[in-house]
Amino acid sequence: MKLGVNIDHIATIRQARGTDYPSILEAATLAEQAGADSITLHLREDRRHMQDRDLYELKPLLTTKMNLEMAATAEMLAIALDVAPQDVCLVPERREERTTEGGLDVITHYQQIEKITQALKEADIRVSLFIAPDKAQVDATAKLGAPVIEIHTGHYANLTDANLQQQELNKIKMISAYAQEKGLVVNAGHGLHYENVQQIAQIKQIDELNIGHAIVAKAIFIGWENAIQLMKQCMDEGQKR
Ligand code: PXP
Repeated sequence: MKLGVNIDHIATIRQARGTDYPSILEAATLAEQAGADSITLHLREDRRHMQDRDLYELKPLLTTKMNLEMAATAEMLAIALDVAPQDVCLVPERREERTTEGGLDVITHYQQIEKITQALKEADIRVSLFIAPDKAQVDATAKLGAPVIEIHTGHYANLTDANLQQQELNKIKMISAYAQEKGLVVNAGHGLHYENVQQIAQIKQIDELNIGHAIVAKAIFIGWENAIQLMKQCMDEGQKR
């Protein structure tokens, strides 16, 4: 199972003071050296962490892949076509939210998402839709022609009741198998950390996890590369169970 390291919160620390450090370029390079399979970043409409120039500076430096998370808007499409990341993950976005709080509603916003997906596909960019573990959303994704889903694990991560968490995990397993049967590549992410990633890593159909906040937080105490390697170890442990 691959690990995409989300470096948004390296930029959050930089933006908190308007400095030019910590360098997201250094973070990405070291992440790749530590074993990251791709570098994920979210250019938000309000530019609260990543800035446009970050994408342009980062793209030629990466030796793995750039996975750009963005809203399905004309503004973001134009930037994506210009930067040409290998992957784009379309996410819902609300200005007032602290982080991406829910999955895309592919059914309600079908036409807009389809338009953006087609334009990205024509530019040879692999499109992933960030959705809740829900059959109807998987069906809509397959119909629309996006080749990848990223299952939103935020609800699983936030649940404190063990039974409810197990139920959500079962749902993620079931949807992963269902999506793979439909020919979709299955990724997952959001809210995963060093204690809850193992059960998600057990799901054989998942190709890649995208993880950011927990790794940046752990890096404060054990260092950036160690935090990435430790996350990979936790994923390996889960896969061996
Ligand atoms: N995947 C997607 C689509 C996201 O929007 C985010 C958050 O930017 C993540 C994964 C990573 O979430 P976290 O920072 O909680 O690990």
